[in-house]
Amino acid sequence: MDETLKGRTALVTGAGIGIGHAICVALAGAGATVIAVARDRVKLDQLATTLGDKRHQCWSIDLATKPGRADLLGRLKEVDMPVIVVNNLHVPSPKVRLRNISAEEFSADFTVNIDHLFTLMDPVITAQHAAGFGRWIGITSKAARTGMPGQARYNAQKAAMEALLNTLAVEEGQKGITANCVAPGLIDTPSVETRVPSELRAKFARNNALAKAGAPEQVAAAVLFLASPASSYITGEVISVDGGASLAWAFK
Ligand SMILES: NC(=O)c1ccc[n+]([C@@H]2O[C@H](COP(=O)([O-])OP(=O)(O)OC[C@H]3O[C@@H](n4cnc5c(N)ncnc54)[C@H](OP(=O)(O)O)[C@@H]3O)[C@@H](O)[C@H]2O)c1
Repeated sequence: MDETLKGRTALVTGAGIGIGHAICVALAGAGATVIAVARDRVKLDQLATTLGDKRHQCWSIDLATKPGRADLLGRLKEVDMPVIVVNNLHVPSPKVRLRNISAEEFSADFTVNIDHLFTLMDPVITAQHAAGFGRWIGITSKAARTGMPGQARYNAQKAAMEALLNTLAVEEGQKGITANCVAPGLIDTPSVETRVPSELRAKFARNNALAKAGAPEQVAAAVLFLASPASSYITGEVISVDGGASLAWAFK
C-alpha cells in the first residue's frame, strides 16, 4: 500500500467529477486525508463511497459565491488545515470574443475563479509553515499561453493562477513549500462531453503526438507526483499533460 502522503491533508476543489474526482482518488490512494469540494451532493456521496475511508470529507459548497468561499474557510479552520491544495475548480463563462465582454463580466468571473484560491493562501500557508511542508498545485491549461479565441476570461484566469502560484513558490520556497501547475490538454471528462461538440473533440483528440484524448487519471498521476516528496526540488513549473499537443504544428 502506498503511504507516501500518510498524515497529510489535501484539499481538492471542483472534486465531484472528472479530473478533480480522479485527483481525490489518487491522493487518497497515497494515504492523504482528502477534503473534496463541489456542489452536487449526489456526486459527492458517490465520491465518498469510492474513497471509502471515513477520514475523508466531501463538502457541498458553491465556491462561486462569497458566502461559499467564507464557508470553506470557516470549515477548514475546524478540521486539520490542509497542507496540500489542488485548485482544480474552474467555473466556466460563455465563449465570447473579448470585445463583447463587459468590464463587469470580466471582473466578476475573475473574482470567482481567482479569489477563492487567494483567500485560502494565508491560513493554509500558516499551517504549511507549522508542518514544514506544503504543496500548491493549480490545474491550468495550455490556453494560459495560446490565447484560444472566444475564451479571454478562461485564458486570463489560467495565466493568473500560474502567476499567483509562481509568486507563492518564490516567497515560500524556503519554508518547504512548493507551488506548481498541471496543464491538461483534451481530457475526456463529463464536462468536456457536455460542452465541446463531438467533431471538435475528435479534432482536438487527433491534434497531439499520441493522437488521442487523455483520461482524468493521467492528470491525477502528475498531481500525485507534484504532491509527493518525490517532487521536492520542483517548484514554479507547469507540467503539460496533453499527449504532446504543444508540438501541434506538426499535426492536422
Ligand atoms: N477536461 C479538459 O479537457 C481540460 C483541459 C484543460 C484544463 N482543464 C481544467 O481541469 C479542471 C477540471 O476540468 P473537468 O473537465 O474535470 O471538469 P470541470 O467542469 O471544470 O469541473 C467540474 C467540477 O467542478 C465542480 N464545480 C463547478 N462549479 C463549482 C462551484 N461553483 N463550486 C464548487 N464546485 C464547482 C463540479 O461539481 P458541481 O457541479 O457538483 O459543483 C465538478 O466536480 C478545470 O480547471 C479545467 O479548466 C480541463
